[in-house]
Amino acid sequence: MGWIHRPRLNKLLALFLVLGAALAAGCGRNDALPQSLMDPRGQVARMQIDLLNLSLYFAAGIGAIVTIVLIFVVLKFRARPEVKEVPKQIHGSTALEITWTLIPIVILIILGVPTVRTAFGTATPASGLDMKIVATGNQWWFGFQYPDQGNFVVGNEMVVPVNTKIEVELRSRDVIHSFWIPKLAGKMDMVPNRVNSMWIEAGETGMYYGQCAEFCGTQHAQMRFRVKVVSKEEFDGWAKRRQAGAVEPTDPVALKGKEVAMKTCAACHAIDGTTAKGVVGPNLSNVGERSTLAAGIIENTEENLKQWIRNPQAIKPGVKMASHPPAVVSDADLNALVKYLQGLK
Ligand code: CUA
Repeated sequence: MGWIHRPRLNKLLALFLVLGAALAAGCGRNDALPQSLMDPRGQVARMQIDLLNLSLYFAAGIGAIVTIVLIFVVLKFRARPEVKEVPKQIHGSTALEITWTLIPIVILIILGVPTVRTAFGTATPASGLDMKIVATGNQWWFGFQYPDQGNFVVGNEMVVPVNTKIEVELRSRDVIHSFWIPKLAGKMDMVPNRVNSMWIEAGETGMYYGQCAEFCGTQHAQMRFRVKVVSKEEFDGWAKRRQAGAVEPTDPVALKGKEVAMKTCAACHAIDGTTAKGVVGPNLSNVGERSTLAAGIIENTEENLKQWIRNPQAIKPGVKMASHPPAVVSDADLNALVKYLQGLK
């Protein structure tokens, strides 16, 4: 190592270590990051991250080799006062030209084959699909329809069975949205007057976070959803309950609440098995069992539901839902309405 000072080399190594540590600190698995594509829990997401990792490691390897060679050449062949003659010129070397044409071709083949395989694999699964869900984007919420289970519709919380290959048909009622569940699959656009299609398969039960990933208006960032992955038995039971329509209340307060709902909510929301058939807002047939309100932005609690009905603009400015001040819905009616809605499970 006569051509480089050892202290200088040590400094260089230290710099690389610090940079490397800073980079590595950004990685790591963390369940506190509910929307991390680095933490795949489904087959499609895994295929995608595998391809990303392959390209990343490959590119990092090439980058490292080029950097090392470059540093070596810069140091080894730097101008020295004692060397006066011009170095040997290699312009037009056929061997070099062929070498640096062949190397990129080989690199492209190594990266291209898995890329094409992943593109086709994530478009359609090798072994066929088990069921279908139609997901529709609306400003600013998601609707999920289950054609294989009798066509019922739920809002903002998609319930799916574990280890099941599900085709998700993507539609939009207004502008372009994008459907994204980072831990299960990459995003795909929901385009008006066009049907897109993707598939997902969750390998573990649990709650997964989804998010609209295409700017679609003021509340784009608040257009979220949940994917609840349950066992196949649990899903079948849930689908049966949904097919049966909304539960009929028995409690007198909740019955009064149903009356209020038919007057106040029915123009915009549907409640299966009742006269409420609106499609402007999410279907409320199972709103009581949803974990969140307002498309994933507030917890589904009695207090939050009351505030949401009273003044949705305060929680989600721009939302199409109207306000319901006490002059429109009295405190007693609001109590009854919330009791009825929370009983819809
Ligand atoms: Cu819908 Cu962004």
